[in-house]
Amino acid sequence: MSSAPPQSVGRSDLVSFPTMLCLKVPSDPGWALLAGRDLDSVLVDHAQCEMKAASNALSLAARHPDDLLVVRALTRLAREELDHFDQVLVFLQGRGLTLGPPAVDEYAARLRRAASMAPRAAVLSPLVDRLLVGALIEARSCERFKLILAAISPNEDPELVSFYSELFEAEARHYRQLVDLALSCAKGHDEAVLARLDRLSTLEGEIVLSLSTAEQRATIHG
Ligand SMILES: [Fe+2]
Ligand SMILES: [Fe+2]
Repeated sequence: MSSAPPQSVGRSDLVSFPTMLCLKVPSDPGWALLAGRDLDSVLVDHAQCEMKAASNALSLAARHPDDLLVVRALTRLAREELDHFDQVLVFLQGRGLTLGPPAVDEYAARLRRAASMAPRAAVLSPLVDRLLVGALIEARSCERFKLILAAISPNEDPELVSFYSELFEAEARHYRQLVDLALSCAKGHDEAVLARLDRLSTLEGEIVLSLSTAEQRATIHG
């Protein structure tokens, strides 16, 4: 774990940050308050998210064995997500928490469902769509980590602040890697990929707004 100081997060950063990741809607500030008050629940859910991210990357790789560029990129991603999973487990152990069974991630399930129902250009394969959905999940996780960072006092838990600073950077990088992989898989249809990303990010924003008006939960995507 790095000993780099945490990034300072200003209000203007939080307002402009989502657009850097193609997110159309910033998270409700109430979620950050909830997460800051119940970090134990957030950490348990976060561990589950990292395990699911690794598992999803490997399962996508297994469905495309003929494309070694895709298999290798997703294997590297899965390895990094598993490393994140292990790092979160250290915090769970330190706090005397257990992992428990994985809860359904309503946000991710709704986003995948919305993507499957939204007509897409014929030149775009289901793989490209899965990569773009994955990229948006990485982007939202990244934004939430930034909000968690702002909610934790560095004096209270400097190791946790350092950890989320690293994770914030890693998930932003994953977002870019998945978009780049989608562009590569689409073989020259860049405009169609970016238009699809724009459409999916609109749907993603609607889901986030809808979830924030329901009962908010101290989970990464709650
Ligand atoms: Fe991760
Ligand atoms: Fe990630």
